Amino acid sequence: MSTPDVMRQQAMQQGQGAMALALAFVGVTRGLFEALSTPADAETLAARANVDAGYVRRWCDAAYAFGYLDAEGDTFRLTELGEMYRPSTAGSLFPFAVQSVLTAHMADRASELMRTGERPGERVLGERKNILPWFGPMLEASFAGFFAREIVPALDVFAALDARGGTAVDLGCGNGWYLRALASRFANVRGIGLDGFEENIRHAEADTARAGLSERVRFRVGDLHHYTVEEPVELVAMNRALHHVWDRKDEVFAKLRDALKPGGAAVIWEPRWPDDRAQLRDGRRRAMAFQNLSEHVQGNHFLRPDEIEAAMRGAGLTPTTHLFGEGTEAVVVGVRPA
Ligand SMILES: C[S@@+](CC[C@H](N)C(=O)[O-])C[C@H]1O[C@@H](n2cnc3c(N)ncnc32)[C@H](O)[C@@H]1O
Repeated sequence: MSTPDVMRQQAMQQGQGAMALALAFVGVTRGLFEALSTPADAETLAARANVDAGYVRRWCDAAYAFGYLDAEGDTFRLTELGEMYRPSTAGSLFPFAVQSVLTAHMADRASELMRTGERPGERVLGERKNILPWFGPMLEASFAGFFAREIVPALDVFAALDARGGTAVDLGCGNGWYLRALASRFANVRGIGLDGFEENIRHAEADTARAGLSERVRFRVGDLHHYTVEEPVELVAMNRALHHVWDRKDEVFAKLRDALKPGGAAVIWEPRWPDDRAQLRDGRRRAMAFQNLSEHVQGNHFLRPDEIEAAMRGAGLTPTTHLFGEGTEAVVVGVRPA
């Protein structure tokens, strides 16, 4: 085949891949994959999911075409692939579906805003009311397992926190999964989570109550720039949140230092922006390169660990960087000298 033909084939495959995820997004967000835990025709499925039967008939045909459903007459059942898009399936693929539609939204906004250079900030996420409730679960499904498996055992700050019966503050906590993970792994850890989005805190509180952890983990809505701890704590965490407030990094790091007891640690987890552009071609980093464009729309950009370390030193914290995920994720721990 000639090179243009190969490229056309490739573009068609990519187009179908994008459609497959967009279609999965509809099934995830309207509860259709979950409602197909037992086989059903389109009318029964619509009634189970409490949605319109006409839309569901079209979705079922498309989901059949893309291999999420098998059919026997008019009765549909989930294929193995379809099962993997049920959010309740262990290791569910639903984050990819949510991310793909968010990606389309961000691409549209970047294209529009590039003409003027306007950067509307965090509110761009909130423009899609249908996506927003899935943002927290998407991050949790993508990172909670990785945190428990890779990061917790590698850093001694968490066990030390537990030994002291200490408190972890999570700034920009999203749906609160990080504090739930710590409190369920370590029986003596307490947590306080703060986030600027009221909806995130509502979800955080509900999920924490369901996990039976509300006694030890509390949440509040607020801007981290205006937040001060009641008394200094052992650990302050920020996960994928520092790059949102990097324009005020000196203030933020001074606040982190002041929130810590002597010997306490700021634990900052960020995607690691590579030193060398050539690394962005790596399949594991490509998504980060797109995401940095959508971060730009929100007024942010991704950071290199050495920039985070320098900001920590500037505030009197002693930093150490730990790399995970074959160098794609960085956790920078900054200790307040005793
Ligand atoms: C990418 S999300 C990460 C959420 C969560 N830490 C996680 O890992 O799943 C960034 C979070 O920071 C929050 N955030 C950004 N700026 C903030 C601010 N100034 N005050 C409080 N929260 C903020 C956002 O609302 C959002 O939930």
